[in-house]
Amino acid sequence: MKSLIAGLILLLALQTVFAHSVAHHRAEKMGLGMNVSYLDNYWNGSKEKRFADFVKMSEVSKRRQMFADIAKAGFKTVRVPICFSAWASLTAPYDWETKEGLEAADLFVKWALENNLHVIIDNHHPEFDNTIAGAVTTERMVALWKRIAERYKNTDPEKVFFELRNEPRDIKADEWRAQAGALIKTVRAVAPNHTLIVGFHDWNSRTALIESTLFADSNIIYTFHYYDPFIFTHQGATWSSEGLPELKGVPFPWSKERAIETPATAKGKWTESLIKSYEKDSNAEKMFADLKAAKDWSEKNKVPIFLGEFGSYGKNPTTEDRCRHAAVVYSALGKLKIPNAWWEWDGSFNMFEKGTNRIADCMRKAVDSYDVEARTK
Ligand code: BGC
Repeated sequence: MKSLIAGLILLLALQTVFAHSVAHHRAEKMGLGMNVSYLDNYWNGSKEKRFADFVKMSEVSKRRQMFADIAKAGFKTVRVPICFSAWASLTAPYDWETKEGLEAADLFVKWALENNLHVIIDNHHPEFDNTIAGAVTTERMVALWKRIAERYKNTDPEKVFFELRNEPRDIKADEWRAQAGALIKTVRAVAPNHTLIVGFHDWNSRTALIESTLFADSNIIYTFHYYDPFIFTHQGATWSSEGLPELKGVPFPWSKERAIETPATAKGKWTESLIKSYEKDSNAEKMFADLKAAKDWSEKNKVPIFLGEFGSYGKNPTTEDRCRHAAVVYSALGKLKIPNAWWEWDGSFNMFEKGTNRIADCMRKAVDSYDVEARTK
């Protein structure tokens, strides 16, 4: 009996070690990544149809070439944000109601694999704009994941990863933990070998990551997002905080010669406090320390991490400022060997020279600093 128990304990221990190394091994291969947005743009659909009609096949087919371009540009991974929630019923058993979006998702996955890219199937914006009651109950999310996992369970687990939920918000840490636990259990029952990408509450923030403890499943890559300094990366953004839509002229890094004007709408708001702390927040050493804290967490917990979103909105800053920001983040990620995905290939956060679809030279240099730093360490 004793030896049987000892054997079982050894088997369990070996399984844990093995599964650990599976997630680590897969994370190491992800390297440089890119978000391919479009299947997340639910707001292009009509609210009466609960956005179900947002995907246009003409837009989907345009994107086939993008996967080849992304691979050619040296990226190894694509993260595909997908609003699966738009295509499933709001009432139990939450069947799929429209096929078109799902078929488009299948094509994105196929095109990524054809180009030898790793692909993250990311359950993005399931809560829409938070105005649709019942969209993100645990029961519905579980039903959605059961269907998503069924759909993709026969893909290669070395290449295809499942991200449970992008940026959970307006949900307490323990509530998200409970929901994530249910989702992990659901996916595991269908797809035992696929690596899961899981982040924490508060919009997958870095601080939520480093405050959190692990889930029991060992085949997980933990994710976080890093849009710091926020008033640089989101100046001009209309979908975020008060004062940001009117904010422009934020240089990177802070500079005495380029003082930032505080818009009237930002007064007394978070945006104004960020303008005040910008000299410190845009400091390269501070940003390195932020990212290192995430890496330290991953080492302490012996789990891999992945930076799933970072980048800057292209509307207001100059390309040179955006490149300087990108270079600070990419070189830190390279030094720390953190696999990552830039937000985004062809939307308003793209890396292109303004008005072209060619990666700007200084952006190219910034991206390349990842590999340079990763190799020299
Ligand atoms: C959202 C995008 C947004 C980006 C930067 C993503 O998580 O889905 O709509 O542009 O973050 O704010």
